[in-house]
Amino acid sequence: MAGTSDAVAAAKRAAGYRAAEMVEDGMVIGLGTGSTVFYAIEALSGMIRDGISVTGVPTSYQTAMRAREYGVPLTTLDDNPVLDLAIDGADQIDPQHRMIKGRGAALTREKCVAAAAFRFIVVTDEAKIVPRLAGVVPVETLPFATKTAMAQLRGLGCRPFIREAVKKDGPVITDNGNFIVDCQFEEIPDPAALETAIAQIPGVIESGLFTRFAGNATIIVGAEKKCSVLTSADVVP
Ligand code: 5RP
Repeated sequence: MAGTSDAVAAAKRAAGYRAAEMVEDGMVIGLGTGSTVFYAIEALSGMIRDGISVTGVPTSYQTAMRAREYGVPLTTLDDNPVLDLAIDGADQIDPQHRMIKGRGAALTREKCVAAAAFRFIVVTDEAKIVPRLAGVVPVETLPFATKTAMAQLRGLGCRPFIREAVKKDGPVITDNGNFIVDCQFEEIPDPAALETAIAQIPGVIESGLFTRFAGNATIIVGAEKKCSVLTSADVVP
């Protein structure tokens, strides 16, 4: 079953449920976006039915809709600027616990919520653990300045493409009303320097490089039988 979609779903479910075990009564938590976070929401729903009180800050319309459907009360960063923890997925994680996120185009709110939280719980499966970050780095851009931003992104060594919608003509529009530029990098020798360089481009809202969370990140790598839990102590120097 290893590698099948059933096995991947089981691994994601195990990671999501393990993350929910880290949530305590009275916490206000960030809720990331994606299929692995979905399982954490499902688990939280059961815990709330059993009597604990948890409130979530959703990072996307998708997560807000799921949380409401599953009876998880919601709040905002305005009302709760400091969060006890945030639970989110990732697309790639390297041995230094630097990540690429944003397949679901929710990267900006995800980074805001992760930065507001004391602990960042990343729920993932083994396929996302990579020896080095490479490939597509999603970047949210202001539509007004997307073409000029793309020229500067190209200068950082990537091939940038505006992400196209699937069931809509034209570009993906993020929950913030912006575009996503998928930047194809053959290699990323210094992810932190690249994150900084991308952030300095006018018109860039945020990138999917999450290179500064290793200190407070707990990574739950789901597996059908037993999840592994990685902390800052497991970061490869
Ligand atoms: C959305 C994200 C997701 O967290 C990431 O793509 C992982 O998704 P999934 O849990 O479905 O594999 O960054 O913007």
